[in-house]
Amino acid sequence: MAKLRIAVLTGAGVSAESGLSTFRGNNGLWGEYDPQEVASIEGWYRNRPLVLGFYNQLRKQLSQVKPNAAHLAIAALEEEYDVTVITQNVDNLHERAGSSRVLHLHGEATKVRPEDGIYDRNYSCKEVIDVGYDEVNIGDLAPNGSQLRPHIVFFGEAVPNIEKAINIVQAADIMLIVGTSLNVYPAAGLYRYARNGVPVYLIDPEEVAVYDSRITHIREVATKGMETFVKMLKENS
Ligand code: APR
Repeated sequence: MAKLRIAVLTGAGVSAESGLSTFRGNNGLWGEYDPQEVASIEGWYRNRPLVLGFYNQLRKQLSQVKPNAAHLAIAALEEEYDVTVITQNVDNLHERAGSSRVLHLHGEATKVRPEDGIYDRNYSCKEVIDVGYDEVNIGDLAPNGSQLRPHIVFFGEAVPNIEKAINIVQAADIMLIVGTSLNVYPAAGLYRYARNGVPVYLIDPEEVAVYDSRITHIREVATKGMETFVKMLKENS
């Protein structure tokens, strides 16, 4: 029998227990900077060194943290389900936990691309360079001679992977949302593409502003909430 398909949408909350701060939690790295300065396209053109420095710090932080039990539990779902993770996170913790299909909606901190690179529809252009946890500074140039910039979807830029994400959600039999305040569109509207009758689970310790009768809110932190979710899946199978 074909495996049921689970689409998992994650946000900063899934990585919180790894020690990475959320965006709207007002602590950690994001609490020290104005997102409009370090995560918007205007901010990039205004002050490239500041933006590069911010992502250098983020990469360094990423090299010091590990996937937590929630990332691992999401990866383990693949034993019984056909799972695709759609993440708003720019960290690589889902990959490091072993998830085999991860679609990044907002880019990846460990990658850079030329500032004037050609944008292809798949957002996987050959010009993207994996720098791991290394620093990238002013004067670090791509083979085409242009300044390297973070491979991040800045505020003010299109979200090239959104169509792929919609297709994944439309094909899902079960939808799981973990640790996102659902404030930022188009990601926040993705669950609405779930087919009729598809159960939607949301794991978040806080109230999240979604009003949809299909949603079962598991009001727990990601690690604990994943245990509850897996139990619910077993009970309903
Ligand atoms: N487990 C699960 N959820 C948690 C935990 C935890 N341990 N700790 C916090 N949360 C929840 C918060 O309650 C909140 O609802 O995670 C959510 C984090 O929300 P945001 O900080 O708004 O992060 P996110 O939704 O991922 O932001 C979306 O905004 O700044 C942009 O591009 C950035 O991808 C990001 C997007």
